Amino acid sequence: MDHAADTFRTDLMTITRHVLNEQSRHPESRGDLTILLSHIVLGCKFVASAVNKAGLAKLTGLAGETNVQGEEQKKLDVLSNEVFVNALVSSGRTCVLVSEEDEKATFVDPKLRGKYCVCFDPLDGSSNIDCGVSIGTIFGIYMIKNQDTVTLEEVLQPGKDMIAAGYCMYGSSCTLVLSTGNGVNGFTLDPSLGEFIMTHPDIKIPPKGKIYSVNEGNAKNWDTPTAKYVEKCKYPTDGSSPKSLRYIGSMVADVHRTLLYGGIFLYPADKKSPSGKLRVMYEVFPMSFLME
Ligand code: AHG
Ligand code: MN
Ligand code: MN
Ligand code: MN
Repeated sequence: MDHAADTFRTDLMTITRHVLNEQSRHPESRGDLTILLSHIVLGCKFVASAVNKAGLAKLTGLAGETNVQGEEQKKLDVLSNEVFVNALVSSGRTCVLVSEEDEKATFVDPKLRGKYCVCFDPLDGSSNIDCGVSIGTIFGIYMIKNQDTVTLEEVLQPGKDMIAAGYCMYGSSCTLVLSTGNGVNGFTLDPSLGEFIMTHPDIKIPPKGKIYSVNEGNAKNWDTPTAKYVEKCKYPTDGSSPKSLRYIGSMVADVHRTLLYGGIFLYPADKKSPSGKLRVMYEVFPMSFLME
Protein backbone atom coordinates (compact mmCIF):
# COMPACT_ATOMS: atom_id res chain seq x y z
CA MET A 1 0.00 0.00 0.00
CA ASP A 2 1.17 3.52 -0.76
CA HIS A 3 2.51 5.49 2.11
CA ALA A 4 0.83 8.92 2.35
CA ALA A 5 4.27 10.52 2.42
CA ASP A 6 4.97 9.13 -1.07
CA THR A 7 2.15 11.25 -2.45
CA PHE A 8 1.94 14.19 -0.06
CA ARG A 9 4.52 16.10 1.87
CA THR A 10 3.50 15.40 5.45
CA ASP A 11 6.39 16.90 7.37
CA LEU A 12 6.15 20.50 6.27
CA MET A 13 9.04 22.89 6.71
CA THR A 14 7.08 26.13 6.73
CA ILE A 15 9.01 29.36 6.52
CA THR A 16 8.08 30.11 10.14
CA ARG A 17 9.43 26.75 11.28
CA HIS A 18 12.63 27.36 9.31
CA VAL A 19 13.14 30.86 10.73
CA LEU A 20 12.49 29.54 14.27
CA ASN A 21 15.10 26.82 13.65
CA GLU A 22 17.57 29.48 12.52
CA GLN A 23 16.70 31.53 15.59
CA SER A 24 17.48 28.62 17.92
CA ARG A 25 21.07 28.70 16.62
CA HIS A 26 21.37 32.05 18.41
CA PRO A 27 20.39 31.38 22.04
CA GLU A 28 20.64 35.10 22.88
CA SER A 29 17.96 35.92 20.27
CA ARG A 30 14.60 37.22 21.49
CA GLY A 31 12.76 36.42 18.28
CA ASP A 32 12.58 39.97 16.94
CA LEU A 33 13.81 39.02 13.46
CA THR A 34 11.36 36.10 13.40
CA ILE A 35 8.50 38.51 14.12
CA LEU A 36 9.72 40.98 11.51
CA LEU A 37 10.01 38.25 8.88
CA SER A 38 6.53 36.97 9.63
CA HIS A 39 5.18 40.48 8.90
CA ILE A 40 7.12 40.56 5.62
CA VAL A 41 5.68 37.14 4.75
CA LEU A 42 2.19 38.51 5.42
CA GLY A 43 2.90 41.39 3.02
CA CYS A 44 4.04 38.92 0.36
CA LYS A 45 0.89 36.83 0.76
CA PHE A 46 -1.27 39.92 0.43
CA VAL A 47 0.52 41.07 -2.72
CA ALA A 48 0.44 37.52 -4.15
CA SER A 49 -3.31 37.49 -3.76
CA ALA A 50 -3.71 41.00 -5.24
CA VAL A 51 -1.48 40.08 -8.21
CA ASN A 52 -3.55 36.95 -8.87
CA LYS A 53 -6.74 38.92 -9.24
CA ALA A 54 -5.24 42.14 -10.60
CA GLY A 55 -7.16 42.07 -13.87
CA LEU A 56 -10.43 41.21 -12.11
CA ALA A 57 -10.12 43.63 -9.21
CA LYS A 58 -9.27 46.66 -11.37
CA LEU A 59 -5.72 46.64 -10.05
CA THR A 60 -4.05 47.07 -13.43
CA GLY A 61 -3.02 50.42 -14.84
CA LEU A 62 -1.62 53.63 -13.50
CA ALA A 63 -2.21 55.21 -10.11
CA GLY A 64 -1.75 58.73 -11.44
CA GLU A 65 1.39 59.78 -9.52
CA THR A 66 5.09 59.78 -10.37
CA ASN A 67 7.67 58.39 -7.92
CA VAL A 68 11.04 59.88 -7.00
CA GLN A 69 12.72 57.89 -9.79
CA GLY A 70 10.52 59.73 -12.29
CA GLU A 71 8.45 56.62 -13.04
CA GLU A 72 4.68 56.64 -13.34
CA GLN A 73 3.39 54.55 -10.45
CA LYS A 74 1.09 51.63 -11.18
CA LYS A 75 -1.86 50.91 -8.89
CA LEU A 76 -0.10 47.77 -7.70
CA ASP A 77 3.10 49.72 -6.91
CA VAL A 78 1.11 51.98 -4.60
CA LEU A 79 -0.98 49.22 -3.03
CA SER A 80 2.04 46.97 -2.40
CA ASN A 81 3.97 49.84 -0.88
CA GLU A 82 1.12 50.60 1.50
CA VAL A 83 0.82 46.96 2.50
CA PHE A 84 4.53 46.60 3.26
CA VAL A 85 4.83 49.91 5.11
CA ASN A 86 1.88 48.93 7.31
CA ALA A 87 3.17 45.39 7.86
CA LEU A 88 6.67 46.61 8.72
CA VAL A 89 5.58 49.42 11.04
CA SER A 90 3.01 47.26 12.85
CA SER A 91 5.61 44.55 13.47
CA GLY A 92 7.00 46.87 16.14
CA ARG A 93 10.49 45.75 15.09
CA THR A 94 11.52 48.43 12.59
CA CYS A 95 12.83 51.97 12.90
CA VAL A 96 13.72 53.20 9.38
CA LEU A 97 12.08 52.10 6.15
CA VAL A 98 13.27 52.94 2.64
CA SER A 99 11.01 52.16 -0.29
CA GLU A 100 11.27 52.74 -4.01
CA GLU A 101 7.85 54.35 -3.93
CA ASP A 102 8.49 56.84 -1.12
CA GLU A 103 10.57 59.93 -1.70
CA LYS A 104 11.67 60.11 1.93
CA ALA A 105 12.61 57.41 4.40
CA THR A 106 9.93 56.53 6.97
CA PHE A 107 11.04 56.98 10.57
CA VAL A 108 8.85 54.77 12.71
CA ASP A 109 7.07 56.35 15.69
CA PRO A 110 9.24 55.76 18.81
CA LYS A 111 6.35 53.87 20.46
CA LEU A 112 6.49 51.23 17.73
CA ARG A 113 10.20 51.37 17.11
CA GLY A 114 12.44 48.30 16.93
CA LYS A 115 16.04 47.66 15.95
CA TYR A 116 15.73 46.82 12.26
CA CYS A 117 15.87 48.94 9.11
CA VAL A 118 14.30 47.61 5.94
CA CYS A 119 15.02 48.71 2.36
CA PHE A 120 12.48 47.36 -0.10
CA ASP A 121 11.14 47.42 -3.61
CA PRO A 122 7.46 46.63 -2.95
CA LEU A 123 6.66 45.67 -6.53
CA ASP A 124 9.51 44.90 -8.88
CA GLY A 125 8.85 44.59 -12.60
CA SER A 126 5.98 47.08 -12.78
CA SER A 127 6.06 47.08 -16.59
CA ASN A 128 5.00 43.41 -16.48
CA ILE A 129 1.93 43.82 -14.24
CA ASP A 130 -0.70 44.46 -16.88
CA CYS A 131 0.28 41.50 -19.07
CA GLY A 132 0.45 38.98 -16.22
CA VAL A 133 4.20 38.31 -16.43
CA SER A 134 6.21 37.48 -13.27
CA ILE A 135 6.84 40.33 -10.85
CA GLY A 136 8.19 40.41 -7.31
CA THR A 137 9.12 42.11 -4.04
CA ILE A 138 12.72 42.63 -2.83
CA PHE A 139 13.84 43.39 0.73
CA GLY A 140 17.07 43.86 2.65
CA ILE A 141 17.31 44.14 6.44
CA TYR A 142 19.93 45.94 8.53
CA MET A 143 20.35 46.06 12.28
CA ILE A 144 20.39 49.57 13.69
CA LYS A 145 23.70 50.73 15.12
CA ASN A 146 22.48 53.44 17.44
CA GLN A 147 19.00 53.06 18.90
CA ASP A 148 18.98 56.43 20.69
CA THR A 149 19.48 58.74 17.74
CA VAL A 150 18.05 57.15 14.63
CA THR A 151 19.34 58.84 11.48
CA LEU A 152 19.49 58.06 7.77
CA GLU A 153 23.01 56.70 8.30
CA GLU A 154 21.36 53.51 9.55
CA VAL A 155 20.25 52.60 6.04
CA LEU A 156 23.37 53.87 4.31
CA GLN A 157 25.36 50.83 5.39
CA PRO A 158 27.39 48.58 3.07
CA GLY A 159 25.36 45.75 1.54
CA LYS A 160 27.58 43.16 3.20
CA ASP A 161 26.39 44.42 6.60
CA MET A 162 22.82 43.30 5.90
CA ILE A 163 21.61 40.64 8.31
CA ALA A 164 18.96 39.21 6.00
CA ALA A 165 17.62 39.68 2.51
CA GLY A 166 15.11 38.06 0.25
CA TYR A 167 12.66 38.34 -2.57
CA CYS A 168 9.24 36.99 -3.36
CA MET A 169 8.38 36.16 -6.96
CA TYR A 170 4.76 36.31 -8.03
CA GLY A 171 5.09 33.95 -10.97
CA SER A 172 3.54 30.72 -12.20
CA SER A 173 3.89 29.90 -8.53
CA CYS A 174 4.68 32.27 -5.68
CA THR A 175 8.22 31.66 -4.42
CA LEU A 176 9.98 33.36 -1.53
CA VAL A 177 13.77 33.14 -1.40
CA LEU A 178 15.40 34.11 1.88
CA SER A 179 18.80 34.27 3.51
CA THR A 180 19.52 35.24 7.09
CA GLY A 181 23.22 34.92 6.34
CA ASN A 182 23.41 31.14 6.60
CA GLY A 183 22.65 29.76 3.13
CA VAL A 184 19.77 30.58 0.82
CA ASN A 185 16.44 28.74 0.91
CA GLY A 186 13.37 28.87 -1.31
CA PHE A 187 9.75 28.45 -0.20
CA THR A 188 6.67 28.03 -2.38
CA LEU A 189 3.30 29.36 -1.29
CA ASP A 190 0.76 26.57 -0.95
CA PRO A 191 -2.41 28.56 -1.66
CA SER A 192 -4.64 25.98 0.02
CA LEU A 193 -2.67 26.23 3.26
CA GLY A 194 -1.72 29.89 2.96
CA GLU A 195 1.79 28.84 4.00
CA PHE A 196 5.19 29.08 2.38
CA ILE A 197 6.69 25.58 2.34
CA MET A 198 10.39 24.93 1.81
CA THR A 199 10.80 23.55 -1.72
CA HIS A 200 14.33 24.72 -2.56
CA PRO A 201 16.66 24.02 0.38
CA ASP A 202 20.19 25.39 0.36
CA ILE A 203 20.14 26.94 -3.12
CA LYS A 204 23.52 27.24 -4.82
CA ILE A 205 23.93 28.85 -8.22
CA PRO A 206 25.29 26.36 -10.78
CA PRO A 207 28.95 27.24 -11.43
CA LYS A 208 28.34 27.42 -15.16
CA GLY A 209 25.25 28.38 -17.10
CA LYS A 210 24.06 28.62 -20.69
CA ILE A 211 21.99 31.78 -20.42
CA TYR A 212 22.73 35.49 -20.62
CA SER A 213 20.10 38.00 -19.59
CA VAL A 214 20.24 41.67 -20.51
CA ASN A 215 18.07 44.32 -22.17
CA GLU A 216 19.79 44.30 -25.57
CA GLY A 217 17.59 47.16 -26.69
CA ASN A 218 20.08 49.35 -24.80
CA ALA A 219 23.04 48.09 -26.86
CA LYS A 220 23.57 51.33 -28.75
CA ASN A 221 24.28 53.07 -25.42
CA TRP A 222 26.70 50.44 -24.03
CA ASP A 223 30.42 50.95 -23.61
CA THR A 224 32.78 48.83 -25.73
CA PRO A 225 33.69 46.15 -23.12
CA THR A 226 30.00 45.46 -22.41
CA ALA A 227 29.16 45.29 -26.11
CA LYS A 228 32.11 42.94 -26.71
CA TYR A 229 31.11 40.67 -23.84
CA VAL A 230 27.53 40.29 -25.11
CA GLU A 231 28.81 39.74 -28.63
CA LYS A 232 30.90 36.84 -27.30
CA CYS A 233 27.82 35.31 -25.67
CA LYS A 234 26.32 35.13 -29.17
CA TYR A 235 29.44 34.47 -31.24
CA PRO A 236 31.86 32.60 -28.95
CA THR A 237 35.43 32.48 -30.23
CA ASP A 238 36.55 29.54 -28.07
CA GLY A 239 34.58 26.84 -29.90
CA SER A 240 31.81 26.72 -27.25
CA SER A 241 28.12 26.97 -28.15
CA PRO A 242 26.39 30.34 -28.17
CA LYS A 243 24.43 31.14 -25.01
CA SER A 244 20.64 31.43 -24.94
CA LEU A 245 19.05 34.79 -24.26
CA ARG A 246 16.33 35.10 -21.62
CA TYR A 247 15.14 38.51 -20.46
CA ILE A 248 11.92 39.07 -18.55
CA GLY A 249 12.41 42.67 -17.45
CA SER A 250 11.56 41.94 -13.81
CA MET A 251 14.80 41.75 -11.87
CA VAL A 252 13.27 39.32 -9.38
CA ALA A 253 12.35 36.84 -12.11
CA ASP A 254 15.60 37.28 -14.05
CA VAL A 255 17.68 36.82 -10.88
CA HIS A 256 15.56 33.86 -9.72
CA ARG A 257 16.12 32.03 -13.00
CA THR A 258 19.83 32.86 -12.86
CA LEU A 259 20.07 31.55 -9.29
CA LEU A 260 18.44 28.24 -10.25
CA TYR A 261 19.78 27.69 -13.78
CA GLY A 262 23.06 29.61 -13.72
CA GLY A 263 24.33 32.08 -16.30
CA ILE A 264 24.53 35.83 -16.06
CA PHE A 265 22.05 38.66 -15.51
CA LEU A 266 23.32 42.16 -16.12
CA TYR A 267 21.98 45.70 -16.28
CA PRO A 268 25.12 47.60 -17.21
CA ALA A 269 25.52 51.33 -16.86
CA ASP A 270 25.12 53.00 -20.24
CA LYS A 271 25.01 56.45 -21.81
CA LYS A 272 21.37 56.83 -20.77
CA SER A 273 21.88 55.63 -17.16
CA PRO A 274 25.55 56.35 -16.38
CA SER A 275 25.18 54.90 -12.84
CA GLY A 276 23.11 51.95 -14.00
CA LYS A 277 19.32 51.69 -13.84
CA LEU A 278 19.00 49.29 -10.91
CA ARG A 279 18.75 50.90 -7.48
CA VAL A 280 21.50 49.90 -5.10
CA MET A 281 19.66 50.01 -1.78
CA TYR A 282 16.60 47.95 -2.52
CA GLU A 283 17.47 46.05 -5.70
CA VAL A 284 21.20 45.47 -6.05
CA PHE A 285 22.31 45.00 -2.43
CA PRO A 286 19.63 42.45 -1.41
CA MET A 287 20.07 40.45 -4.62
CA SER A 288 23.88 40.51 -4.29
CA PHE A 289 23.57 39.33 -0.68
CA LEU A 290 21.56 36.32 -1.86
CA MET A 291 23.87 35.60 -4.80
CA GLU A 292 27.00 35.71 -2.64
P1 AHG B 1 10.68 48.46 -10.91
O1 AHG B 1 9.55 47.82 -11.65
O2 AHG B 1 10.70 48.10 -9.46
O3 AHG B 1 10.77 49.95 -11.13
O4 AHG B 1 12.05 47.83 -11.41
C1 AHG B 1 12.29 47.70 -12.77
C2 AHG B 1 13.71 47.30 -12.97
C3 AHG B 1 13.99 45.81 -12.79
O5 AHG B 1 12.98 45.04 -12.29
C4 AHG B 1 14.28 45.32 -14.18
O6 AHG B 1 15.35 44.45 -14.16
C5 AHG B 1 14.55 46.55 -14.98
O7 AHG B 1 14.01 47.62 -14.30
C6 AHG B 1 13.96 46.45 -16.34
O8 AHG B 1 14.31 47.57 -17.05
P2 AHG B 1 14.11 47.68 -18.64
O9 AHG B 1 12.65 47.78 -18.87
O10 AHG B 1 14.86 48.97 -18.94
O11 AHG B 1 14.77 46.49 -19.27
MN1 MN C 1 9.54 51.36 -10.41
MN1 MN D 1 12.51 47.04 -9.10
MN1 MN E 1 9.33 48.59 -7.93
